Amino acid sequence: MDIFYATLLSLFVLVVSFSFHFFFFKSKPTEDGKVLPPGRKGWPIIGESFEFLATGWKGHPEKFIFDRMSKFSPKVFRTSLMLEDAAVFCGAQGNKFLFSNENKLVQGWWPASVDKIFPSSDKTSKIEAIKMRKMLPNFFKPEALHRYVPIMDVVTQQHFANGWEGKEEIVTYELTKNFTFWLACKIFINIEDPERVRYLSGPFESIATGLLAIPIDLPGTPFRRGINAANFIRKELLAIVKQRKIDLADGKATPTQDILSHMLLHSDEDGKFMAEYDIADKILGLLIGGHDTASSACAFIVKYLAELPEIYDGVYKEQMEVAKSKAPGELLNWEDLSKMKYSWNVACEVLRLAPPLQGAFREAITDFMYNGYSIPKGWKLYWSANSTHKNPEFFPEPQKFDPSRFEGSGPAPYTFVPFGGGPRMCPGKEYARLEILVFMHHLVMKFKWEKMIPDEQIVVNPMPSPAKGLPIRLYPHKA
Ligand code: HEM
Repeated sequence: MDIFYATLLSLFVLVVSFSFHFFFFKSKPTEDGKVLPPGRKGWPIIGESFEFLATGWKGHPEKFIFDRMSKFSPKVFRTSLMLEDAAVFCGAQGNKFLFSNENKLVQGWWPASVDKIFPSSDKTSKIEAIKMRKMLPNFFKPEALHRYVPIMDVVTQQHFANGWEGKEEIVTYELTKNFTFWLACKIFINIEDPERVRYLSGPFESIATGLLAIPIDLPGTPFRRGINAANFIRKELLAIVKQRKIDLADGKATPTQDILSHMLLHSDEDGKFMAEYDIADKILGLLIGGHDTASSACAFIVKYLAELPEIYDGVYKEQMEVAKSKAPGELLNWEDLSKMKYSWNVACEVLRLAPPLQGAFREAITDFMYNGYSIPKGWKLYWSANSTHKNPEFFPEPQKFDPSRFEGSGPAPYTFVPFGGGPRMCPGKEYARLEILVFMHHLVMKFKWEKMIPDEQIVVNPMPSPAKGLPIRLYPHKA
């Protein structure tokens, strides 16, 4: 967080809190006799948003959750986040409840900051979101995913050749961000020229930070930077959409080459095509969803494999077996990835300890009861991956890195939730699995490495990342 923003925020807190009182709620009945979940609303207006974000900036987002679970209730507690009345649903039971009541008691909700950065979601709202949801499985269905594996392999090899090979030291997180963004550009909009990809990638960081920032729209705030960056990218994408329309008409592009062609050529049930602006916006959403999450996961894989040589050895052995089964120059395919069971268990353990998304919001669409407490219509409800991932009740010795947790039937239902669950579960889950495995394959087949800052701090803003980007020293395998 830069100094300007910190100062602005402190002033803001001082001004709005002139009455200087905290609001505490200890399950007192409301005027109509309903008992709200225990908890506290925090500061006037901004509530507990600052504490919520600040525990992440210090690298321990789970602290916000666990402090309140032990103080108020391990099942559900009240708070106020992103300028809204909110309740955090905890544990496997909380996850299950929110995931299985989608469109019955709750529906997806994003903070006001997201609506401002994606203004079209205001206008087109639920209908567009549903259309998009219907369209995505097409793009991520098994046949399509099978086709992406060799493309992913080519892009990944180019990425390692350009960014890693011949270097003694690299900054991991910068490279993993380039990697996932390059791949997304290739597979979503068929752009692969590294210069063009670099030009588009710059503003994405500001968008991701702006999305979960406190929505103060003033010059220099992370929120304003996010809005400006999204406007810039949207304009670029709109130009790409228009050009693609021309290329499709001229036969220079094919209908199945990527998601962009798919969106342009497929109408909904009423025969209506998506507007160009909405396509640009949806592609923007996919690039964000598919970029920062997977790049954070890849960076943490590099971190844990550097710290745990026996885990590195296990991954190396498995990937060596796959490499040995291939003819020289033969690209990876779907079947190869299905053999990478240990590697995927390692990746899952990384996603447990450093989930790229900490959780997500829902909105109560009606009044209902949960665990004896009233949840009023309109409240924002949050599920948190950490409330189970770092909870000894579900993962004994939660800080221990142990991929064997995922062997056999794996963790209990609703406890391992890096991709969420229920109807809103991340549609890019399989795509993410493929890109992470292809990345792991080339990483260990080419290198060993060591961290240059042994106890580098972790920052969660909003994705987890090593504070200095995880600089490492590379030791290429001898040919
Ligand atoms: C390791 C990588 C990833 C992780 C951990 C992850 C995690 C998540 C989570 C937790 C959600 C929210 C679910 C909820 O609201 O409960 C989500 C939503 C979403 N993800 Fe991912 N994701 C990843 C990769 C991807 C990729 C690669 C794409 C696209 C190719 C993608 C596209 C989306 C989209 C479009 C949504 C919104 C779905 C909706 O609201 O209905 N994600 N993701």
